[in-house]
Amino acid sequence: MRTPLIAGNWKMNTDSTSAAELARGIAARAAEVPGVELLVCPPSAYLTLVRDALGDAAVGLGGQNMYHETSGAFTGEISPAMLADIGAQSVILGHSERRHVFGETDADINKKTQAAFAAGLRPIVCVGELLEERQAGQTAAVIRRQFEGALAGVSAEQIATAVLAYEPVWAIGTGQVATTEQAEEVHADLRKQLTERYNAEVAATVRILYGGSVKPDNAGQLLGQPNIDGALIGGASLKVDDFLAIASASGGVTA
Ligand code: PGA
Repeated sequence: MRTPLIAGNWKMNTDSTSAAELARGIAARAAEVPGVELLVCPPSAYLTLVRDALGDAAVGLGGQNMYHETSGAFTGEISPAMLADIGAQSVILGHSERRHVFGETDADINKKTQAAFAAGLRPIVCVGELLEERQAGQTAAVIRRQFEGALAGVSAEQIATAVLAYEPVWAIGTGQVATTEQAEEVHADLRKQLTERYNAEVAATVRILYGGSVKPDNAGQLLGQPNIDGALIGGASLKVDDFLAIASASGGVTA
């Protein structure tokens, strides 16, 4: 049984007022979606504010990124220990904007993934191909390379606690969602890689989220696929109604 995970990646959006409002709005309605795990990932500047606004509602808190070192002379960065210290349980790693705007490599993401485990954080490790890679028929190879690179040295015990996210770069923030067939094909391949590299039990446990233009009107179809276990949502996670509608479309616990 994999409980659907609906994660909101607020990116570099909101201000202190709207972040608190959004968090309070989601917290107030979290009970409407039993059997669904909700997670919000606000900008780091608002993590504590959002934590407080969520109160004791069943909504998790995550970072959008972090550096792999614990502390030191790394101006502008936040550490895994800091995220854990302020009460975050999860952290998004290797998001396509980190890879393509900030130049993060699979090796960087691997260090961060290891550091997240060491700090007791749950990494949400993102993979996804560029449009030209898809058009060149390289999708499976790119995903495989990112999977191998980001998860190098990760044990079966560790991966069992992690989450993967498939986010085709061409579908992020573009309104151009992957078809259910395109998404399910990659998700099934990721599940196969988990089986090959670890074992069937681990592969059956790890949730694989889809991300890229998920909206209330396409969520049901995507989340109805056997290997799609939740969503990583950008734009639509900034509206309480849309976020909850997507969570509700996940239909609760899946087999
Ligand atoms: P989007 O972003 O839902 O706005 O396409 C998804 C993501 O980047 O996680």
